[in-house]
Amino acid sequence: MKNLIFLYGAPASGKTTLGRKLGAALGAAFVDLDAEIVAREGRPIPDIFATDGERAFRDIEARTLAAVIDAAAGRTVVSLGGGTLLRDANRARCERAGTVFCLDTPDEAELARRIGSAAGSRPLGNKARERAPHYASFPNRVAASFDLDGSLVVVGNGLARALLGATPFVADGTVAELYKDTLPAPLATIPSGEVHKTPATVAGLWHAFARAGLGRRDTVAAVGGGVTGDLTGFAAATWMRGIDWINFPTTLLAMVDASTGGKTGCDLPEGKNLAGAFHSPKLVVIDTDFLKTLPPDVLADGRAEMIKHEAIGGRGREKIADNLAVKVALVREDPFEKTGRRLLLNCGHTIGHAVEKLSGYAISHGSAVAIGCVAEARLAVRFGLAPAGWPDEFAARFRAAGLPTELPEGLTEADLVPVMRGDKKKAALGVVTFALPCGWGDVRAVRVDLMEGIRPC
Ligand SMILES: NC(=O)c1ccc[n+]([C@@H]2O[C@H](COP(=O)([O-])OP(=O)(O)OC[C@H]3O[C@@H](n4cnc5c(N)ncnc54)[C@H](O)[C@@H]3O)[C@@H](O)[C@H]2O)c1
Ligand SMILES: [Zn+2]
Repeated sequence: MKNLIFLYGAPASGKTTLGRKLGAALGAAFVDLDAEIVAREGRPIPDIFATDGERAFRDIEARTLAAVIDAAAGRTVVSLGGGTLLRDANRARCERAGTVFCLDTPDEAELARRIGSAAGSRPLGNKARERAPHYASFPNRVAASFDLDGSLVVVGNGLARALLGATPFVADGTVAELYKDTLPAPLATIPSGEVHKTPATVAGLWHAFARAGLGRRDTVAAVGGGVTGDLTGFAAATWMRGIDWINFPTTLLAMVDASTGGKTGCDLPEGKNLAGAFHSPKLVVIDTDFLKTLPPDVLADGRAEMIKHEAIGGRGREKIADNLAVKVALVREDPFEKTGRRLLLNCGHTIGHAVEKLSGYAISHGSAVAIGCVAEARLAVRFGLAPAGWPDEFAARFRAAGLPTELPEGLTEADLVPVMRGDKKKAALGVVTFALPCGWGDVRAVRVDLMEGIRPC
C-alpha cells in the first residue's frame, strides 16, 4: 500500500518549500505537482489558464496527479496546487494513497507579500479567503514550520503516524502503550520517569540498535517526552559516531523546550544531564494530538516553561509555535551557549534547580521552575530592577496554570544558596549569572554574588 504525504493549502502558503525540505529530512522523494504539470505540458501555468481556461487546467491537473501517484515508488512527499483538491475525485484519490496535510494560511499581510513577490506566476491571486471553508475541511494540519540549526521543525496535528512511516523508533513506555493501536511497534521502549535517564538506559538503546542492525546511514526516531528525546538523541549521537535522528515530542514541555536546541544526554548519580552531546535531530515533528492524553500535572510542567518564555519574549504566546519561537530565536543567536544570549532561557532555573535538588526531585521540574521564577522576580525587585507589583503578577499567571509559586514548607532562601553556588553553570567561585525576570518580555542576565546571601555584584 502506498503511504504518500500530500501537502495542501492556499496559494503561497509554503507547500513547495516545506515539501522539498520535508522530503530531504525524511529521505523521501519529492514531487511538486505544479512543476510536474509545467514539465509535461511544456508551458507555464498562466499560459494554460490564458489559452485553455481553468476547466482545462483542472483536467490536466487531475491527470497529472493520477500519474504522479501511480509512479510513486517508496516514500514520497507531494506538494499539491492551491486548488487541486477542489475536485472531490482528486481528494479521494489522495486520501486513498496516503495522508493529506493542509498548511495553515499565513496572515493576510504575509500572504500579500508572498503573492506580490511572485506576481504573474499565480493566476488565481489571493484565493485564501474565498476558499477558507474548503481548506478548513482538512483535519490534518501543519500550523507552522521553520529551520533551526540543521533541524526542520514542523508543528501541527495528525502528523506522527504518517511522518514516522517505517522509521525505527524508541518510545516512552507509557506512550507506546497508549498509542499501540495507532503507531507501529517501537524498536525499544524506555520505562517512564527521570530515574531511567541513565547511562544504563543509553547502553540498552545501543544494544537495541545493534540487534536491529542500524548502520551509519540509518535514521532512528524518538517518540516521547524530554527523557526519551534526550536519551534517544544521545544514543543516536554516539551510535557509529553519530547517526541521524528524528524527534517526535509527546509532552508539552518537550514540544516547547526540550525538543529543540540540540542538547541530548543522560543523568549521573553526581548530577542531572552531566553526560551528553549537542546533536540536533534533522527533523522535529510536533504533533499536538499527543497532548490529549497528557496527565494534568505533566501538562502543567510544560505550562511553566511556556510562561517562562513569555517572561523572555512577551505575552500572547499561547500557541505552541509562537511560544517555541522565543527559544528558537535565542538558540539561533547562541547555538552552543557561548555568547550568553541563550542563558536567558535559564530564567527561574537557578533557584528552580536548587529547589528541585533539595526536594530530592519530589518537586517536578515545572513546579520548581514556577517557584524559581517567582523567587527570582522578587530578587529582581530587591535589586531595583523590577517594579514592586511584578512578582505577584507573575505568580498569578503560574497559579492560573495550576503551578505552585512558594518555596515548600521548611525551605528558606538561605538553604538554596549553597546549592546554587555548586551549580555547574557558575563562572567563578561564588558568582553566578542569573537570568532575572523583570517584567513581561524583560529577562536580564545579572551577575550575583552568593558568598554571603544573595547580592548583586
Ligand atoms: N534537551 C533539552 O534542551 C531539554 C530541555 C528541557 C528539559 N529537558 C529534559 O526533559 C526531561 C523532562 O521532560 P518531560 O517533562 O517531557 O518528561 P518525561 O519525558 O519524563 O515525560 C513526563 C511523563 O509524561 C508521560 N508522557 C509522555 N508523553 C505522554 C503522552 N502524550 N500522554 C501521556 N503521558 C505521556 C511520560 O511517560 C512521563 O511519565 C528532563 O529530563 C529534562 O532534563 C531537556
Ligand atoms: Zn526547564
